[in-house]
Amino acid sequence: MTGNLIIRNIKKLFLASDRTLPCKGGEEQANVPVIDNAYLLIEDGKISSFGPDNEAPEIRFPKLDATERFILPSWVDSHTHLVSAKSREGEFVDKIKGLSYEEIAERGGGILNSARTLERTSEDELFIGAWHRLTEIIGMGTGAVEIKSGYGLSYESELKMLRVIKRLKEKSPIPIKATFLGAHAYPMEYRNDHNTYIDIIVDQMLPDIAAEDLADYIDVFCDRGFFSPEETGRILEAGAKYGLKPKIHANELDYSGGVQVGVKHGAISVDHLECVGPEELSALKGSSTVATLLPSTAFFLGIDYAPARDIIDYGVPVAIASDYNPGSSPSGNMPFVVSLSCIQMKMLPEEALRAATLHGAYALEMENELGSVTPGKWANLILTKKVPSLAFLPYSFGSDWIEKVVIKGKVQ
Ligand code: NIG
Ligand code: FE
Repeated sequence: MTGNLIIRNIKKLFLASDRTLPCKGGEEQANVPVIDNAYLLIEDGKISSFGPDNEAPEIRFPKLDATERFILPSWVDSHTHLVSAKSREGEFVDKIKGLSYEEIAERGGGILNSARTLERTSEDELFIGAWHRLTEIIGMGTGAVEIKSGYGLSYESELKMLRVIKRLKEKSPIPIKATFLGAHAYPMEYRNDHNTYIDIIVDQMLPDIAAEDLADYIDVFCDRGFFSPEETGRILEAGAKYGLKPKIHANELDYSGGVQVGVKHGAISVDHLECVGPEELSALKGSSTVATLLPSTAFFLGIDYAPARDIIDYGVPVAIASDYNPGSSPSGNMPFVVSLSCIQMKMLPEEALRAATLHGAYALEMENELGSVTPGKWANLILTKKVPSLAFLPYSFGSDWIEKVVIKGKVQ
């Protein structure tokens, strides 16, 4: 469903540009064009024109008055695990009592815990749970989302997850991209026999996933205790044969070589990056790979945040995403992710806005459809409440500063 709409008297219209800005770090990361006292015209769900309010066309469209309010492009949340069977607050309490994320994983908890419950959960039940979370994040301003498999870890369950994502795509008001993450963890029975599990991914899962057109991207959790760079390389090569580009989990727990292997295989993005030093930075520099940071995971696990300042200042473009999942970030709250990026990773409000919108769109190859207020793109937008400045948004962390969201020109 798409709509026509004219928005008038917008106090500030953010990220308004006639052409899509580039995906760049350095000073460009903070470049957020703004129009004061603006109008915005939406036709058939797409941005048609914008400009100073005194130049607004006289048109008999539904009207939204934005006096004293801002309009921003919706968030593009480029990394989530929205499909899962059950919450894991038991492990949360274990962590409070002192166990680490890796210790929980070694005991068969963590990702394997989610895989056990997902195996017993029907496709319909998974769909209902994920639909609920999708509706929740749309209400918090998310206008496009990536969703991974990875809690299946068997042929049947991975395909089941991807079919749920396909159904979500068909029904969702917002665009969705699907990522195959069969290499999220080794199932217990393959702990000491990695090659056999990789054979299952390469020879059984991938051909059928491609045949059913179930995935847009391929992901591997390349990190200490999970998949090595060599194992990751083998899986990414196999994915490439089916046209699946990589978006990988890298360098969350260690300087794992994940960033380098991702860049080498032309990853659209490498995600997490809590452990990044000179070698990772020089691998990223000059590549077309986006550095996607997930600060709510660092917050929830109590680990160091990714060095966003070093990455941006080195000239590498940064995106930010929620990592919404039951184990390490049980929240899809992008306003909170934006706040954490500023408070904990020292990103400027402008840098964080661009990271959560335009650079997120690049991390999903959707920069021509979303991520800025640009003619021809989907009118997926956030209308703020009465707020004094852009900086007020991340500053007022945890408060609900969103008044309305617009999806394809329809006020939700
Ligand atoms: O992005 N790091 C790997 N995977 C997820 C966590 C999955 C889980 O604990 O369920 C993440 O943090
Ligand atoms: Fe993740």
